[in-house]
Amino acid sequence: MQNFNYYNPTEIVFGQNRLNELDKLIPENAKVLVLFGGGSVKRFGTLDKVKSGLGAREVIEFGGIEPNPQFDTLMKAVEIVRREKVDFLLAVGGGSVMDGTKFIALAAHVESEHEKLLMAGFEPAPAIKALPLGCVVTLPATGSEMNTFGVITYNNQKYPFNSPLVFPKFSFLDPELTLTLPPEQVANGVADAFIHVIEQYLTKPENAKIQDRFSEGILKTLIEDGVVTYLDKTNIAARKNFMWSATSALNGLIGVGVTQDWSTHMIGHEMTAMFDIAHGRTLAIILPSLLRERQIHKKAKLIQFAERVWDINDGTDEEKIAVAIDKTESFFNELGIVTNLTHYNIDESSIDELVDNMKKMGLTHLSETGDLTLDIVRKILISAL
Ligand code: NZQ
Ligand code: ZN
Repeated sequence: MQNFNYYNPTEIVFGQNRLNELDKLIPENAKVLVLFGGGSVKRFGTLDKVKSGLGAREVIEFGGIEPNPQFDTLMKAVEIVRREKVDFLLAVGGGSVMDGTKFIALAAHVESEHEKLLMAGFEPAPAIKALPLGCVVTLPATGSEMNTFGVITYNNQKYPFNSPLVFPKFSFLDPELTLTLPPEQVANGVADAFIHVIEQYLTKPENAKIQDRFSEGILKTLIEDGVVTYLDKTNIAARKNFMWSATSALNGLIGVGVTQDWSTHMIGHEMTAMFDIAHGRTLAIILPSLLRERQIHKKAKLIQFAERVWDINDGTDEEKIAVAIDKTESFFNELGIVTNLTHYNIDESSIDELVDNMKKMGLTHLSETGDLTLDIVRKILISAL
């Protein structure tokens, strides 16, 4: 296991009907900007519950943060924060609203060239201060509620950013607030969380037993309860496990001290930017082909994945790996996700354009070994056709 530091200060408030506790978690005299998306939280009553939890505090609303949040929209919220002297941000929504709120928290303390906050990739964004923020999660998927990352769309490209300044102070995880999700959004969330674990787990053995076993536990839980949640709205017990899996998949704990490989995400972000396919879905399309292509590099961990996650104990190593990847793909299909690019009207010519865009973004040497070059990306996408 490699050396690591681990720090995560986000307070999690898990369970049903707890939004009245917002009152205890936000300073009494705070002027609060409540941020949300295209209106689901208004339609389904979550916003009213949040406002009632905020008591007598002065509250301003900012709606309209789109999926894959747009820089220009977020900058409008930054203007409001500055003009109204807001001192606490409350994100009510999924990953897009939470990520957008993190960006606003940083941008509010930057005078100009706010886009530079997006240009540092996974290195800390160039900021020294951020407004405090909290989250009310309505879509379990990204883990944004307990991490320092965000992804913002700027000039039609998706830019990840990272800053320790934007750890949420708290996040409410109430499975009941997710009951209004359309099943395909549940499926996207299950796939996203599953692949967050895979990208931290499926690299090379490092004798990191805790990280491996936590990862395998999350993957098994998503397999058991992800499809149940997708199919059965009434199963709150399964939904609770799904929700905590999604948070646990990307709150840093399973990624400490191990090698990671975020190739699937990097390719997926480009697919969302170009073809507007939802984030989790892009990952489920790419991952099976990527694993088949990269199995030599990941052999030992793929065998471990086959044995411990899918309980495959018969056959040669190669057979175990092949079955494990097939089972992973079938799992995505059971969630209603079609894993062929042609289904999304993507053909070879669009793949060339996608690869070109990745080159422009400097994404030319991906994976844990840095040798997943663009010709291999092309090959992976062709085999996903
Ligand atoms: O906008 P509204 O009307 O609220 O509708 C949303 C949106 O259309 C809807 N929705 C959310 N909660 C709902 C609901 N509809 C009914 N009932 C509810 N309870 O769901 C739609 C999608 O929401 P979005 O927030 O875009 O989805 P998700 O949570 O999957 O977030 C995706 C974004 O997160 C980024 C992605 O790149 C993408 O931009 N990611 C962020 C990460 C992070 N911060 O760590 C890591 C991830 O890998 C990911 O890249
Ligand atoms: Zn993701």
